[in-house]
Formats: sequence, C-alpha cells, structure tokens
Amino acid sequence: EGDDQLEARPPVVTIMGHVDHGKTRLLDAIRNTKVVEGEAGGITQHIGAYQIQFDHEGATRPITFIDTPGHEAFTAMRARGAKVTDIAVLVVAADDGVMPQTIEALNHAQAANVPIVVAVNKIDKEGANPEKVRGQLTEYGLVPEEYGGDTMFVEVSARQNLNIDALLEAVLLTADAALDMRANPNKDARGIAIEANLDKGRGAVATVLVQSGTLKVGDTIVAGTAHGRVRAMFNENGETVTEAGPSRPVQVLGLSNVPRAGDTFFVTDDERTARQIAEKREAADRNAALAKRRKRISLEDFD
Ligand code: GTP
Ligand code: NA
Ligand code: MG
Repeated sequence: EGDDQLEARPPVVTIMGHVDHGKTRLLDAIRNTKVVEGEAGGITQHIGAYQIQFDHEGATRPITFIDTPGHEAFTAMRARGAKVTDIAVLVVAADDGVMPQTIEALNHAQAANVPIVVAVNKIDKEGANPEKVRGQLTEYGLVPEEYGGDTMFVEVSARQNLNIDALLEAVLLTADAALDMRANPNKDARGIAIEANLDKGRGAVATVLVQSGTLKVGDTIVAGTAHGRVRAMFNENGETVTEAGPSRPVQVLGLSNVPRAGDTFFVTDDERTARQIAEKREAADRNAALAKRRKRISLEDFD
C-alpha cells in the first residue's frame, strides 16, 4: 500500500456455523460471559462484536470476535461476516455433524479467501463423533492437519470450558502463518458497520469495526447513507472510550440514522461534507431502486 506507518493489528475472527451448534456459547466461554442465556428463544438475531485479551507466550494478544447467527434466514449476514474477517472459526457440533449452514458458512469463507479453523464443539455430549466431522469436512476440502492437510481442528466443549485456550492458540497460529495483519493507526479511521439499531433514548446506535486509522469522539463520519459527529463511543463492556484503533469494534452514537450492516464508514473533514456525501449516496440508492422498478415493469409489459 506504500504506507510506511503500518503497525501490527489484532486478527478479526468470525464465528460461523449451523444453527445451535454453539457459536455464542463458545464466545461466552472465551469471554466468560452469558450472552446465550439472554437471547430470545436461544436464537442469535444479530451480529455481536467483541475484543478479548489472550495471554499467549508471555504476551497479551488482543483478538476481535464477530458472532453470526446460524439460522438459514441470515445468509446475508454470514456473507457480510465472511467479508470483514481475517479468519473464520467454523463451529460444528460433534453430535450433529456437518449441516446445511455449515456448508454455506464454509462456502462464504472460502469465497472470501479466508482461512478456516474448525471448532468441533459439544464433545462432552453422548454421541459426539469428532472423527466423523473430520471425515465430512475433508470432503469439502477442509483437510485436518492430522490427515496431512493444513486445517487445524480443535475439539472443544463450550459448556465445559474444555480446550478453549487450544482453540485460541490455533486461531493465532493460523493468523500469524497466513496473514500480514498490519494497519496504520495514525490517520483518519475507515471501516465497516457491523450492525445498527434505533434506540429510543440514544438514537442511532451503530457497532462499527475500525479497519485502519483511529476513530475519535468528535470525528465526523459517513456510514452508508448515515452521517454525523461521533458523540460517544463504547466498548463491548459498555465502557466509554475516546479512541478506537485498527481491528477494534466499537459502539458509536451520533449518527443521523441507521447504517446497514456491511456499509463502509470513513471520516470526513467536517459535518457539511459528511451530510453532502450521505445525501448523494441516498439519492443514488433511490435512483437505483427506481431504475430496478422500471426495468421490472417493462419486463412485465413484455410478457
Ligand atoms: P444460533 O446463534 O442460533 O445459530 O446458535 P449458536 O450456534 O449460537 O448456539 P448457542 O450458543 O445458542 O447454543 C445452542 C445450544 O447448545 C444451547 O443450549 C447451548 O447451551 C448448547 N451448547 C453449546 N455448546 C455446548 C457444548 O459444548 N456442550 C453441550 N452439551 N451443549 C452446548
Ligand atoms: Na442458538
Ligand atoms: Mg448464537
């Protein structure tokens, strides 16, 4: 990129896999939280993003995790998750084995050229058959190291907190071997909106992932067709932060409306510029929608 101020940044890891194979529970085990218990019907409906600190070979290594829903209704979210990530952890329940959204998730990761680490979960369960999972995934080109391939498989139990450190080691090994993870923190931030919602009290609340540069409170940003001055930022624990560097997910307040997951964001010189860019994008979106509708109508006329 010709950027001489590149510095090491944490890996961004997306947790993918079939519904109920234990993605969120695994993240709970990694983070020592209980998100699963708070989810309505036990189904993840959105993308969560968190950074953890992992002690590895005498150093503290931050790792950013992105959770995705496994339900078939969330195909687009898995595709977006695969796009923002350095590494995918493919969670496969050892009792269920490979299922339709396992395949779909691995297709998204492979299409995005993202290295995969397989977490064979629920090995505590009766009927767990991790060997069968290895065999099934080999057929999809994910050949375990122990079979002579280059994919790391780690048997874990999110429920029993088993082998979680081994999984994190595998993630770091894969990241360090496969990727050059560097970014320049000393410039205006750029990144991706991960999820967003409208909060009655706080207005638009967007979780964004900073990919390069450093985002600061007071910066003016455009995110998709949303714009505004960053009024406040929070980390995954709800604590206020004033800055967010490369690979850091952060909740942002102050946007005019709700960006879509996958929208890019960047910092502008001032609020006027941000508003103008956002308005241009909105007009372009409107025109594209209109053109699509016209095309549909003319095709129907033809029938
Ligand atoms: P979606 O987000 O809806 O796709 O599901 P998920 O993959 O996030 O699964 P979730 O973490 O919600 O776990 C599904 C169920 O499996 C919950 O009841 C968990 O407690 C259970 N579970 C997860 N991991 C394990 C495990 O290692 N062992 C056992 N026995 N149960 C587990
Ligand atoms: Na679930
Ligand atoms: Mg979940």
